[in-house]
Amino acid sequence: MGRKKRGTVRSYGKEKNFNRGGGKVGEGYDLAMRDNELFAKYYKGQGIVPEDEWEEFYATLKKTLPVTFRITGYKSQSEELLSMIKGKYFSNMLDVQVDGETIAPPKCLSWYPKELAWQLDLTRKIVRSSEPLSRLHDFLIAETECGAISRQEAVSMIPPLVMDIKSHHKILDMCASPGSKTAQLIEYMHSDCPQGELPSGYVIANDTDNKRCYLMVHQVKRLQSPCCMVVNHDGTVFPKIRTNADEHNPQFQLFDRVLCDVPCSGDGTMRKNFDVWSKWHPLQGANMHGLQLKILRRGCQILAVGGRLVYSTCSLNPAEDEAVIAEMLRSSQGAMELVDIQDMLPGLKFTKGVSSWRVMTKAGEWIESAEELPPAMKTQVKLTIFPPTPEEAEKFHLDKCIRILPHQQNTGGFFVAALQKVRHLPGSREARLEAEATAKAAEAASTAEEQAPTESEQTVKSSESVPETETAQSAAVEEATETGGDKRKAPQSGEEPKPKKQRMYGYKEDPFLFMTAEDPVWPPIRDFFGLGEDFPASLILYRSEQGKRSLYYVSQAIRDIVRCNENRIRFINMGVKTFSRSPSPLVPECDFRITQECVATLQPHVTKRLVTVNKSDAIIITSQENPFTFKLSDDTQEQLKKMSPGSTVFMFSPSEKEPSPKCEIVFCGWRGKASVRCFGSRCDRAHALMLLGEDLKEINKRVAAEKQAKLEAKKSAEQEDSALAKEGDDDGGAEEADDVKGEEGEKDNQLKEEEAKVPEDSSEGPPEDAKEDAS
Ligand SMILES: C[S@@+](CC[C@H](N)C(=O)[O-])C[C@H]1O[C@@H](n2cnc3c(N)ncnc32)[C@H](O)[C@@H]1O
Repeated sequence: MGRKKRGTVRSYGKEKNFNRGGGKVGEGYDLAMRDNELFAKYYKGQGIVPEDEWEEFYATLKKTLPVTFRITGYKSQSEELLSMIKGKYFSNMLDVQVDGETIAPPKCLSWYPKELAWQLDLTRKIVRSSEPLSRLHDFLIAETECGAISRQEAVSMIPPLVMDIKSHHKILDMCASPGSKTAQLIEYMHSDCPQGELPSGYVIANDTDNKRCYLMVHQVKRLQSPCCMVVNHDGTVFPKIRTNADEHNPQFQLFDRVLCDVPCSGDGTMRKNFDVWSKWHPLQGANMHGLQLKILRRGCQILAVGGRLVYSTCSLNPAEDEAVIAEMLRSSQGAMELVDIQDMLPGLKFTKGVSSWRVMTKAGEWIESAEELPPAMKTQVKLTIFPPTPEEAEKFHLDKCIRILPHQQNTGGFFVAALQKVRHLPGSREARLEAEATAKAAEAASTAEEQAPTESEQTVKSSESVPETETAQSAAVEEATETGGDKRKAPQSGEEPKPKKQRMYGYKEDPFLFMTAEDPVWPPIRDFFGLGEDFPASLILYRSEQGKRSLYYVSQAIRDIVRCNENRIRFINMGVKTFSRSPSPLVPECDFRITQECVATLQPHVTKRLVTVNKSDAIIITSQENPFTFKLSDDTQEQLKKMSPGSTVFMFSPSEKEPSPKCEIVFCGWRGKASVRCFGSRCDRAHALMLLGEDLKEINKRVAAEKQAKLEAKKSAEQEDSALAKEGDDDGGAEEADDVKGEEGEKDNQLKEEEAKVPEDSSEGPPEDAKEDAS
């Protein structure tokens, strides 16, 4: 990942624990405050909630949400993690009783694939009062920290699921921060790709709020994908992505998938954002309608024909939901169609989208038609908040939209619609260029027939007509320009307005620069790790010419976007940190080490610094600080002997002899003179150990005990020293240390002294990371 702007990230109330009630106010929020008369009147009047379900609906809205989480799907380890969660943690929860009541067992979300999403009913009280639950709680926190689990509201998981993501898709998440859905999109793109290969597609995560873009960087970084980037634009005028850098003949690409998870009134989130209760009023939704429509419209404009756009809100309000979709369908004149997504969500309870609804003034009076709008409101709201005519409704099929009501399965409220683009939007440049090209092609064909040119004439003609011929075919879309079309023809009434020119004012990111194979920095890295000539140096990115301290890896598609859009797109972040500069006197041939973030992606390319380890070695290396090599198996020692000191990749693979865990575990580390070291962060190491069958709580206890023992040893050594200093005798301390450590301790002490002469893990390894990685 690239650089983070200092001091710009806010936590946005992100909770670190897994207890129920992630709201701003908390569980103690007065139940009486969870009421709003106008809200009740408005929604009763909409007919969205069946009359006989109203009480249950309203009562559910007042309850805090249960916890839901997903196991992140594209890592090979997800199945192993799932079986561990089910076997080790959930099975212990089955008969837990708190205050005489049996705790509800974890519930698998049926509509989420491969049993990877779960719902839990955990309150602080319950977690505290039960050992199995507190273990599960600690486990979930640790796994969330390393990205193996994502805590996410159940309904919020739906939009990416119905996008039908493939690994070659060009995907845009228009309103992406804080990035929980972006994470899903990245996961699905990778899941669709054979193990060990990178998707040819990409995910662009955009948000108009610069600070919130940085919030997203953290979320996206956890997935360690070289195929995504974070950008910062107003979604209503999101710039088209250029596919070449030729100013005179610009070409563009459209997206295969667009997610518009638009800003909204959020009245579906009342169960966690309790302040929505007091702030809600009937015009809130209508006030958001215009912006939502603009974002959706731009999304449809930059969607490729045949592509799918998913529109979602966490609001139940038709003004923000069906009304926006209806207006888009109306203005698209058949170019956009709603897609039936119900089959993609087996077992999900929902209500179908509606074709009629009502509008209310802020004071709570119903307005049945646009004509009845009070003059003051005419300037405030768009007329498109009103429902479609019966004729329109018949064409629109708004019942293909889905609305999830909180009481249906104990969730938040949500709305989702999937649209398919069947042809270019009327008035769009693509449509115009296509029409022009078709007309020209027809004209050329009839002229050709009339004139029947000689062979030499034909050659000249076809070369002259190349641009038009290309435009006439599918390349029309790619070649469309944002300005070219307008120069040829003024917009006609009903045409899409020309998108505003993007400005790059205030854009302060460091540049995104790419390595070349000729860069003097590259050959030592390539040769030291045996990366092979086919590993593309051109995909390695850095942010500053001075020093090149950190190198990042991006996919070809991401690189192409950067190269062709340098002064058009406000890039915030991309790439996975791959190599980090850490010069060591012991490794004069290469100043860089591999980082944990990219080790899994890079491992298939590493031929020289790879050590395969058995389970016991993997446990030793990931759990101990600087284990001596002699503690490892003979096979591992043999491999290490053949290797010079320096950055190393360690890998455990399941085998017949050691079938469990059923997944590879790869971690980066260091081969020292007489010891090895794991450079994974504390949570990466805990995650690896958990997969290797070690109990996290036991590990934590052991680490704490080791720390305590060290502290005590240090303290007693200090006391000893001061006593000896007084007595003028300096032999006793060493004797005591040997007594405590025994034979191995003696050997340890000798070797440690030897290693101390070569400052292995301070000057050999990267000082910063060594500090950061030490657990
Ligand atoms: C509902 S939230 C998105 C949540 C996100 N998709 C997720 O799942 O984590 C809406 C986001 O839209 C952003 N936003 C508001 N107006 C926007 C605009 N004109 N263009 C792009 N993003 C916008 C907000 O900053 C906010 O982060």
